[in-house]
Amino acid sequence: MNPTIDLLNAHRSIRKFTATPIDQATVDTLVKAGQAAATSSFIQACTVIQVSSGERRDALAEMAGNQKYVASAPVFLVFCADMKRHQLACDMHDAEMQTGFTEQFLTASLDCALFAQNVMIAAESLGLGGVYIGGLRNQIAAVSELLELPELVYPVFGLCLGHPDQNPETKPRLPLEVVLKQDRYDDSQDAEHIAAYDKNVREYYRTRTGGNKEMSWSEQISGMLVKEARPHMLPFLHKQGFIKR
Ligand SMILES: Cc1cc2nc3c(=O)[nH]c(=O)nc-3n(C[C@H](O)[C@H](O)[C@H](O)COP(=O)(O)O)c2cc1C
Repeated sequence: MNPTIDLLNAHRSIRKFTATPIDQATVDTLVKAGQAAATSSFIQACTVIQVSSGERRDALAEMAGNQKYVASAPVFLVFCADMKRHQLACDMHDAEMQTGFTEQFLTASLDCALFAQNVMIAAESLGLGGVYIGGLRNQIAAVSELLELPELVYPVFGLCLGHPDQNPETKPRLPLEVVLKQDRYDDSQDAEHIAAYDKNVREYYRTRTGGNKEMSWSEQISGMLVKEARPHMLPFLHKQGFIKR
């Protein structure tokens, strides 16, 4: 349709990278492109921690569920929702900052997601590839300690970036009818659309894995959603000063 939309539609996560490094000027350019994203009420509540290769990075890979590409990616960024500098801004004006609102947690987390997606797209536009790492939240307290995160800061996810050393197919997404509704929420046709989509996804996995994995989308989701989802998150976020009211 146009090069930007083509680029967006060509996205696929990259988990294998060549040894070619990414220079710091490029990382700076990507992070600046991230900063250009829209930001709720201009709060700019995202801090990026670039973690170089070495012990700290290896520890993060382990904490993220032993995801090897966290250690081997040329660049690894941790996106942190950060309301700490706002404390500073309030202090500069003798204003008493009110913290702990769910709304603040939401806006800071949204800022990170928008920022990071700009970084991902900018990277892809340069021929680089990447994968988000939500696995950092498996051991979020240990990750936060390792990165010396203070109160009012939490790691939302990581992002591996590098030159792709694989060329996976794009992963089929849900049919448009399921995600785009007109005027009201009508999900009466969703089951039918999802059943058709399940066949696509099953075929995608079958061809991608040479027949080793055959799983539909609904199977995958139902397998995941019967389990607890990182129940340590709420007490951890409370400790960091988030979602208290
Ligand atoms: C917030 C977030 C966290 C993710 N965490 C991980 C992760 O820890 N490990 C991983 O291999 N992929 C992770 N992914 C990648 C997704 O699995 C991937 O985007 C999804 O399966 C769709 O595939 P695609 O990106 O190739 O289109 C994450 C994606 C997002 C958006």
